[in-house]
Amino acid sequence: MRVLHVAVEIYPLVKTGGLADVVAALPVALAARGLDTRVLLPGLPAVLNGLTDLRRISRFGPAFGAAMITLRLGRLPDSGLPAYVIDAPFLYRRDGNPYLAPDGRDWRDNHRRFALLGWVAAHLAAGELDRNWQPEVVHAHDWHAGLAAAYVAQNPALSTATVFTIHNLAFRGLFPLDHHADLGLLISGANQSALEFHGQLSFMKAALVHAKRVNAVSPTYAREICTPEFGWGLDGLLRDRGTDLSGILNGVDYAVWDPGSDQAIPANYTASHLRGKKVCKAKLQTELGFARRANAPLFAVVSRLTSQKGMDLILGALPDLLAGGGQLVVIGSGEADIEAAFRAAAAAHPEAVSVYLGYDDALSHRIIAGADILLVPSRFEPCGLTQLYALRYGTLPLVRRVGGLADTVSDATPAQIKAGTANGFVFDDAGSRALASRIGDALTLYRDPVVWLQIQRRGMAQDFSWADSAVRYEALYRSI
Ligand code: ADP
Ligand code: GLC
Repeated sequence: MRVLHVAVEIYPLVKTGGLADVVAALPVALAARGLDTRVLLPGLPAVLNGLTDLRRISRFGPAFGAAMITLRLGRLPDSGLPAYVIDAPFLYRRDGNPYLAPDGRDWRDNHRRFALLGWVAAHLAAGELDRNWQPEVVHAHDWHAGLAAAYVAQNPALSTATVFTIHNLAFRGLFPLDHHADLGLLISGANQSALEFHGQLSFMKAALVHAKRVNAVSPTYAREICTPEFGWGLDGLLRDRGTDLSGILNGVDYAVWDPGSDQAIPANYTASHLRGKKVCKAKLQTELGFARRANAPLFAVVSRLTSQKGMDLILGALPDLLAGGGQLVVIGSGEADIEAAFRAAAAAHPEAVSVYLGYDDALSHRIIAGADILLVPSRFEPCGLTQLYALRYGTLPLVRRVGGLADTVSDATPAQIKAGTANGFVFDDAGSRALASRIGDALTLYRDPVVWLQIQRRGMAQDFSWADSAVRYEALYRSI
């Protein structure tokens, strides 16, 4: 079965979040199952520079505002998997964030930049761009790739199976309605209602309507988005899709995230030999300028600093965390007011709060390895990957009961501790008080090293690798 994955991000070349980790790992897991899997990416500088063995497959244009577009085929750096790249310098030769201009605003031609991605996927499916390879399944990720499903559906001669994965419904890919004239899509009658969302054009809606199957990145999020609270106005449409909508949990690439082999951390360790984790913690405390106290519980945040992620809850619970003797390290970037509040907290408590505003892959590994507890108090969380990384590193996740967090973290209640099923801490209310209270419980349990170790080992032994999820995706493809 020939499967084409269509996305903007792929680790380690282009990454703003978990999407990149998924797009790097899932196609490899599918290829390991014997599926003939390729990836299609926009020709951002990091992609063109990062692929090997690039050769030209076809040229076309003008299209989408670009005079000439070259489709190239190369190989991904680590896996060697074949990857198509759309070389359109006029649209993609821009460094930095793939979606935003240096002033922090969306690039004004984003509708053309991402429509082209879907358009090329559909024309590969039609056999018009590469005579030697034609996908039977086009699998598009998030709204950026969403028009792939619409372009395929609008060609009555194509029977390509289309799958669309929702990584985050909050980003709906909205543009002024008149921009449709740039996209080469029919927009009248039924098509209009398929592309239009309250007077705007929505790439996300177009995908949800047109893809043969839709899935979200965890079972709980797949249910949540069918409710008004989590549906962003698209819940009715999602309910209407019935059994065409499913939830498939993301996996972890343990080649990248395993304390036994991680080259980015100062000492390796395993569930049976945890001494290395103590070394990681001590070195991290020194690096952060904290008092090097082995018995001070070290809390960590590795996250986009946004309200989705509940970062304001952490700021509200910080006094309790510090009063209980905890230390906090934060790495992330995002909304200006949240960044400023964390910066102020670090300035006020330099001995116990450290904040790195920015993106640093190696530092994120050192933090996940060195911390005792990872905080993920999200308001909504489609899947969440950092809690899965934390579990593998013996760092207990403390999460809100939403989306993929609810599916992966089992609360340390007395009953679950006794049963040996607890792997972290879970709270319900999206408020600082509820978070502070669960932080208090974690601080108490931390003083019981036997139970703590049992919970650590439970999480470290769990297998969230891609193998199971790849089986589910393959079954989804075969069903259509
Ligand atoms: P989301 O995709 O919503 O941001 P996920 O938990 O799925 O959330 O994925 C976030 C990914 O980004 C993880 O791989 C995490 O380690 C990484 N990450 C987040 N912030 C940073 C940062 N400041 N520096 C390095 N990696 C980060
Ligand atoms: C999105 C979600 C996150 C998920 C990631 C990968 O960015 O916010 O929860 O883990 O996509 O699917």
